Amino acid sequence: LAQVDVDISQIAAGQSITAKWRGKPIFIRQRTPTEIEEGKGVSLSDLKDPVARNANLPADAPATDVNRAAEGQEQWLVMVGVCTHLGCVPLGQSGDYDGWYCPCHGSHYDTAGRIRKGPAPENMAVPLFSFPNPTTIRIG
Ligand code: FES
Repeated sequence: LAQVDVDISQIAAGQSITAKWRGKPIFIRQRTPTEIEEGKGVSLSDLKDPVARNANLPADAPATDVNRAAEGQEQWLVMVGVCTHLGCVPLGQSGDYDGWYCPCHGSHYDTAGRIRKGPAPENMAVPLFSFPNPTTIRIG
């Protein structure tokens, strides 16, 4: 399917679901205020990959917290749930940066899905998405 609509009405703050799009897992998380603050508190110079990797933004957009989240709705994080090292599926709410941890070779991602430690070279990719209504995310 080119596009997939996902009902997000049951995802509370601090919860995630995994949808499927083009055969790949898509992590959709409603972040807590603490997670957002953590993401905003990181300076770009501390990032291994300083580029947002967000298909909704220009290719050179910096990897600020706001550029990783949904525009105007920073609590929502939507990412292709595939480690950018060799393609394992990272575990949520894990790792040294309170985000995701890939157990295959030990990559740690932060609360904005940015790679912080380990062999993965890039932040997890943010796919094209939109909100056709307030309780639906359309991926693709
Ligand atoms: Fe994730 Fe290697 S595939 S660390």
